[in-house]
Amino acid sequence: MKTQPRFACQQCGATAPKWTGFCYACGASNSMVEELPRAAPPKGLGSGGGRGGASLDFVALRGAGSRAPRRRSGIAELDRVCGGGLVAASSILVGGDPGIGKSTLLLQAAASFAADGGTAAYITGEEAIDQVRLRAERLGIAESPVRLAATASVRDIIAALDGPAAPDLVVIDSIQTMYLDTLDSAPGTVSQVRGAAQELISLAKRRGTIVVLVGHVTKEGLIAGPRILEHMVDTVLYFEGERGHQFRILRAVKNRFGATDEIGVFEMSDRGLVEVPNPSALFLADRAPGDDEEPGAGRAAGAAVFAGIEGTRPLLVEVQALVAPSPLGTPRRAVVGWDATRLAMITAVLDARCGLSVGINDIYLNVAGGLRIVEPAADLAVAAALVSALTETPVPPEVVLFGEIGLSGRVRPVGHAEARLKEAAKLGFAEAWMPGRPATRSLPTGLRGVAIGHLSELAARLAPPSALLRQRRQPSAASRQLAATR
Ligand code: TYD
Ligand code: MG
Repeated sequence: MKTQPRFACQQCGATAPKWTGFCYACGASNSMVEELPRAAPPKGLGSGGGRGGASLDFVALRGAGSRAPRRRSGIAELDRVCGGGLVAASSILVGGDPGIGKSTLLLQAAASFAADGGTAAYITGEEAIDQVRLRAERLGIAESPVRLAATASVRDIIAALDGPAAPDLVVIDSIQTMYLDTLDSAPGTVSQVRGAAQELISLAKRRGTIVVLVGHVTKEGLIAGPRILEHMVDTVLYFEGERGHQFRILRAVKNRFGATDEIGVFEMSDRGLVEVPNPSALFLADRAPGDDEEPGAGRAAGAAVFAGIEGTRPLLVEVQALVAPSPLGTPRRAVVGWDATRLAMITAVLDARCGLSVGINDIYLNVAGGLRIVEPAADLAVAAALVSALTETPVPPEVVLFGEIGLSGRVRPVGHAEARLKEAAKLGFAEAWMPGRPATRSLPTGLRGVAIGHLSELAARLAPPSALLRQRRQPSAASRQLAATR
């Protein structure tokens, strides 16, 4: 049978008979790459239906099998994100931008796993043995009994590992460099990445090995992204962070053995990644409340501290806003670390329900420390940062905020209030602006709860009436200018 050429999107795996400049399925541009399909395309069962198949043995949900055995990697943040340790015979995909620190993290994990008495292997298809050794030297783990190999051939890897002496943990760095010699397409293409991953995952199931696959996230679409593997593996972790920031965050997006809302926080150092057991202190490092300064003195307007929750852990972060009259017809919006649509909604609610004119200005919003917030509970802190920037009134430094804002301007309660309050008290904050008045007994000592039921209450509490009035009367310098020139 003659095989037709076929093009596969390197981002989402969709196929097309012809090359196109962008993928019709996911919209990625320049991601279609020619790949030869398997010699025998899958067929249906034919007219015979299921005849000839073996009958299935159905079993009860309750079984004698014990709970999935977990092994600690020795890196507490990694173990927590995985749900309390790495599960034997499972496959874990660690995705992230090139250069974010995946190889460093996993080499450290392999070393501490080995130091704990497990057997660990690290297989690199990207770097030479000497490069990895150099890194191990720098990380101070060169003495650890990790078995190191440099190869890109899945056949060689399986040959070496598929035996009774298979290691407990194997790191494959990266899955995009691995290839199966039975496939014609180049390493990094969808069929190679899928095929190689399939072989390694079944090795994990067969031998009880924990297989960790490193996957580069690619924007150019020249090599297949880790997304196409997400459904195949048991656990998907993404390692992220802003370049230029020293924080790195490990986030679970899929976990067959645990929750997916946990994050692990690391700090980069010249000796590798250091775990950060108390991230709030780090994210607020340069603004400890109650320092030598007077409340409000010298503090810039436009910053508000959000009492957030990441997974099960409270996390305090600073939201910063800059609001400036726009020289353009369409005001500029730049958002780092938060959802731009959500910002648009909050500016609209501030305008419509509080009579302010925030929306006509250029707005820059930034979550300090390179963190990305996804919780709607951050609404109130964002609104406070905006009002503070607009009226040039600093938010009192001893205040944390949380609460979700509805389109009516009402502030709605959010979950985990107690954990948020406890963390705020622990870090020395004295006041929490929050939806609804909390029962006094649920407030930790030293912390006052201030109920904010509506966005207009927030504005009134934050800025003096004169400042608010100014923002109401004079929409913007730009439109004033425009009116003057007419
Ligand atoms: P690397 O682990 O190679 O990233 P990836 O495997 O995701 O492509 O790290 C990239 C670079 O950053 C590398 O030159 C080492 C450096 N680095 C540090 O110096 N300290 C650190 O803590 C980390 C994580 C990386
Ligand atoms: Mg690497």
